[in-house]
Amino acid sequence: MGARILASGSSLPKRCVTNADLASTVDTSDEWIVQRTGIKTRFLLEDGEEPSALAVEACRRALSDAGVPPSDVDLLIVATNFPDMICPGSAPFVAAGLGLNKSPFFDLTAGCTGFVYGLVVADGLIRSGLHDKVLLVGLEALSRVTDWSDRRTCVLFGDGAGAVLLVKGEAGDGVLGSALHGDHEKLFLLHLPAGGTRTPASSETVKRGDHYLKMEGAGVFRSAVPMMERSTLEALAVAGIGLDAVDWVIPHQANVRIIDSLTHRLGIDPARVIVNLDRVANTSTASIPIALDEALRSKKVNRGDIVVLTAFGAGATYGAVVLRI
Ligand code: ACO
Repeated sequence: MGARILASGSSLPKRCVTNADLASTVDTSDEWIVQRTGIKTRFLLEDGEEPSALAVEACRRALSDAGVPPSDVDLLIVATNFPDMICPGSAPFVAAGLGLNKSPFFDLTAGCTGFVYGLVVADGLIRSGLHDKVLLVGLEALSRVTDWSDRRTCVLFGDGAGAVLLVKGEAGDGVLGSALHGDHEKLFLLHLPAGGTRTPASSETVKRGDHYLKMEGAGVFRSAVPMMERSTLEALAVAGIGLDAVDWVIPHQANVRIIDSLTHRLGIDPARVIVNLDRVANTSTASIPIALDEALRSKKVNRGDIVVLTAFGAGATYGAVVLRI
């Protein structure tokens, strides 16, 4: 038996930033942002707030709903692209915040597909019997790597975290199928040039702004839709489930036009696609678990529903998971 979601949680920063707020600092407008992206607001960390605190809060909510103490968690996976520190990552900070009991933890970096990759990894570990209770959290503090003077990127992103507590499922529930892929030929579509070991941070890299996220917007757009379509169809085929049996699709929340185009290509009813990016913007690895948690809490998604999670991201990575909630 594979992994099933016992409980979920999410957390957003308190500070809400509107398109009008951004239009007061860069040359943009609410109309442009809404029309091109669907985004109206985003939640951003204040200076000095710790990114991992978002993940700790999301995990606490999941654990509390499940009635499981942190000491029972036997593995923590933190999917993130921009950890609290390059070394030792974010996972030890989240483990410390939760007070985990010497259980293992690690960061997983797979672009915006990180949560989907993490779910497949956790599912494999639970199936194999190596772990029983796995906390998987998507955490992203994109505001810390965004160039706030670059209107092409700064309007897109938000901060946040979403978590799930995974346990062994019963026959026919939990993870039913998955498909993961990568396309290294597209590795520069989205990248942060400096600060890693290839180009260490220096005063020169800072002067060039190479410590900020760079994005080739049109290239991302062109790749994202076929990538999510392909992985969704493959994961459904592995699960032996047709599109008509799917109750909900939760796509990575990058851009409403990408989501609309995916919906159209799959030929599914837009009412079955969960979208929250108008409020929270693109929170990268955290986008799917935040949307999933909100949909579960509002009882839009319910136990027994068949849900497809599908994402693409830096690398370029892409993938999908089909699960019965
Ligand atoms: N406000 C006003 N004008 C803007 C803004 C802005 N915020 N941003 C760009 N423009 C201008 C450009 O400067 C350009 O002006 P110019 O013609 O005078 O040079 C014009 O708008 C058109 O720019 P494009 O980049 O061609 O705009 P496009 O229609 O492609 O939209 C966007 C840009 C929204 C980024 C689009 O390419 C897109 O959605 N790409 C997908 C990227 C994405 O979703 N990334 C998410 C992160 S990746 C991930 O999550 C894995």
